[in-house]
Amino acid sequence: MKPVVAAQGISKHFGGVQALRDVSLSLHPGQVRSLVGENGSGKSTLIKILAGVYQPDSGTIHLDGVPCQHLHARQAVRAGVQVIYQDFSLFANLTVAENLALNTQIQSCRRFVNWRQVRRIATEALAKVGHEIDLDKSVADLTVAQKQLVAIAKALLHDARVIVMDEPTTALTKREVAALFRVIDDLRAKGLSILFVSHKLQEVREISDTITVLRSGRKVAEGDASQFSRDDLVFHMTGRRVETGTPPSRPGASQVLFEVRNLTRRNAFEQICFEVQRGEILGITGLLGSGRAELALALFGLEPVDSGTIRLEGRDIRLGNVSEAVIAGLAYVPEDRTLEGLFPPQSIERNMAIAGLGSFANRFGWLRPGQLRATVDRWMKDLSIRAPAQQTAVENLSGGNQQKVVLGKWLAAHTKLLILNGPTVGVDIGAKVDVHERIRSLVEQGLGVILISDDLPELLSLSRRVLLMSRGRIVKELTCESLDHDALAAELAELE
Ligand SMILES: Nc1ncnc2c1ncn2[C@@H]1O[C@H](COP(=O)(O)OP(=O)(O)OP(=O)(O)O)[C@@H](O)[C@H]1O
Ligand SMILES: [Mg+2]
Repeated sequence: MKPVVAAQGISKHFGGVQALRDVSLSLHPGQVRSLVGENGSGKSTLIKILAGVYQPDSGTIHLDGVPCQHLHARQAVRAGVQVIYQDFSLFANLTVAENLALNTQIQSCRRFVNWRQVRRIATEALAKVGHEIDLDKSVADLTVAQKQLVAIAKALLHDARVIVMDEPTTALTKREVAALFRVIDDLRAKGLSILFVSHKLQEVREISDTITVLRSGRKVAEGDASQFSRDDLVFHMTGRRVETGTPPSRPGASQVLFEVRNLTRRNAFEQICFEVQRGEILGITGLLGSGRAELALALFGLEPVDSGTIRLEGRDIRLGNVSEAVIAGLAYVPEDRTLEGLFPPQSIERNMAIAGLGSFANRFGWLRPGQLRATVDRWMKDLSIRAPAQQTAVENLSGGNQQKVVLGKWLAAHTKLLILNGPTVGVDIGAKVDVHERIRSLVEQGLGVILISDDLPELLSLSRRVLLMSRGRIVKELTCESLDHDALAAELAELE
């Protein structure tokens, strides 16, 4: 069958960075192709070229067999190419209904918006992804998962023949991923072509008909999904065999670092009690909406609480106040890096320095520029952040590299308790192992870590104790003996 979209010999550079070298890719009707590769390997760049957002330096794109010299975004959309980007491209200050339906209203050149129609279109679109989301909610108030779903629904609304999904399952629970996969199966059966970009290799192998692997901007492997094992994919992506580590052993004498007592916030979480030992990585997991994200925000003072106390090294920390939390030695790495964690137009150096040089700078003293550069340089190497220079604006980095900058920002500060919410979401497998290694070496120095994650292998390779949250409560504590992949998966399945 003729491909809907075919790219041939595509190359593209940005300044001194060769993002793509001679890459070819074709998308056929009724097929799901996955595109995998490490952070910065060129996946998003290739997608933007297929969508006519970037012009390649060389190479051609064929739409339905017709070569397009200069593919423009409008042409791509007209040919039915729809892309869901990593940042979703939604308008945060508009409601769900407005985000979904306003385009069609504008396209039909109406002078007045037909609100009833807007609601009907929006309801139908969400039904297609099988989810109910309050249409009148502003998108800014949605969870990451809900934003993702709205973005997918929006793409389905247009007469898409090719849907490109750039890491669509990043923030979805298992159940939501399953729902998304049903939608994808449905689209495939209808003859649509899907390009699926993900770092979750298990999912990639499950959903794809064919897989293309990029490494440093080159296509290094391609073929039927069935011919690649997970290890094969990792090897093609990284050029090395990668092994996951085991949790750091508990320090001999346990010493309480952080205590949470009866923390309650109505409609979010209730009577939360736990302790983190010095040198411990405490895992917290649960379904989306279990209250774990709200708990993380409250611990860091970003959200108010109704009652309860927290103490670090035996001293009470006033709740609901971020600067007190930071001064006390708490740090927080959010799940939604673009909204809470970064200043995208600023350089890597500045973003990393902010944690150490903000309003609380005096605790650490000013870093001299040379010192700052050396520190940032070390963190960039440690986390293998791929960028031309420290001065590169964070918005020009690949998604996974942005996430590493958020991490670096807090690792660079002098922290006692680090709260990590989905620390390696969107981070490739090689870098993930590096990030885990860093976290392990931090706790060896006596730091405490609260690790909130959906990623079971991640929890198992870092934590010896995992709390399970459901409906705002801690419902179970799993420790060494009861802690393995199957047990954890079974507990989570029971909650769904
Ligand atoms: N607008 C831009 N300006 C400068 N450099 C860019 C720009 N866009 C991408 N790059 C660089 O091109 C390379 C490829 O980036 P790209 O975003 O395509 O990677 P990716 O495979 O999508 O990675 P990730 O998995 O982290 O999302 C990276 O080195 C990135 O820093
Ligand atoms: Mg990307």
